[in-house]
Amino acid sequence: MKVIKTIAEARALRRQLTGSLGFVPTMGYLHEGHLTLVRHSRAENRHTAVSIFVNPTQFSPKEDYQSYPRDEARDLAMLEAERTDFVFMPSEEEIYPRAFSTWVEVTRITDRLEGAVRPGHFRGVATVVNKLFNIIEPTRAYFGQKDAQQVTVIQRMAADLNMNLQVVVAPTVREPDGLAMSSRNVYLTPAGRKAAPVLFRSLQLAREMWAKGEKDAGRLRQAVTAHIEAEPLARLDYVSVADTETLEELSVIDRPALVSLAVKLGKPRLMDNILLG
Ligand code: PAF
Repeated sequence: MKVIKTIAEARALRRQLTGSLGFVPTMGYLHEGHLTLVRHSRAENRHTAVSIFVNPTQFSPKEDYQSYPRDEARDLAMLEAERTDFVFMPSEEEIYPRAFSTWVEVTRITDRLEGAVRPGHFRGVATVVNKLFNIIEPTRAYFGQKDAQQVTVIQRMAADLNMNLQVVVAPTVREPDGLAMSSRNVYLTPAGRKAAPVLFRSLQLAREMWAKGEKDAGRLRQAVTAHIEAEPLARLDYVSVADTETLEELSVIDRPALVSLAVKLGKPRLMDNILLG
């Protein structure tokens, strides 16, 4: 496994490759969800590259950029065990040199859900992912369904800017009790960790109602809200039943829908989602 730190090295390496290249962008502190993406990439491509870069521009000043969990040695050992071919680990200056002034802004779908509570977040994500795509030039890029809005934003960007790659989305990887895997789960206290499966349980409840014929999105939102509010540690940020492409809230579920929610469990804020239809 080659570890590269500069854009020049990444480009030189890319020029030597023949055949398809799968790419898994990450912010490190890897877990089974990331490794599943690496396995998908390895199964579908001749080469696999992973990037580890905690992207400062997708954190607001009051978010956890400085304290975001990092463990380079552990990440590299995990990627080596998965037989990753290349790891790109640039410095902040490499990605954002002093004169950096260009941003990628995906409109409309970024002003709701996570975008409404984290202004500028998706501008940072779209910009860094665009840059990483330009540097790595992958054939396919792999993202987890766990970050559903991020996936929608990246798919929109790739289509709108005619990017010459395929965006592949892999299902959310869960702990045995249903908690969606996330690097931020380490922030959970023991009591928060015990309460955390309430997110997935509330989504399953929504799925059951829908499977039994409930098409009223408002009733699904109410049921999820009541389920979350019954957990004393949980503070619901939002629950959404939205069109999967536009992320506009639905009143009637007459097309494929994304049910998503964000919940605070003490300090950590967890997100989860399911697709209906
Ligand atoms: O999902 C993440 O880890 C990040 O948002 C990404 C896609 C690597 C961009 O920094």
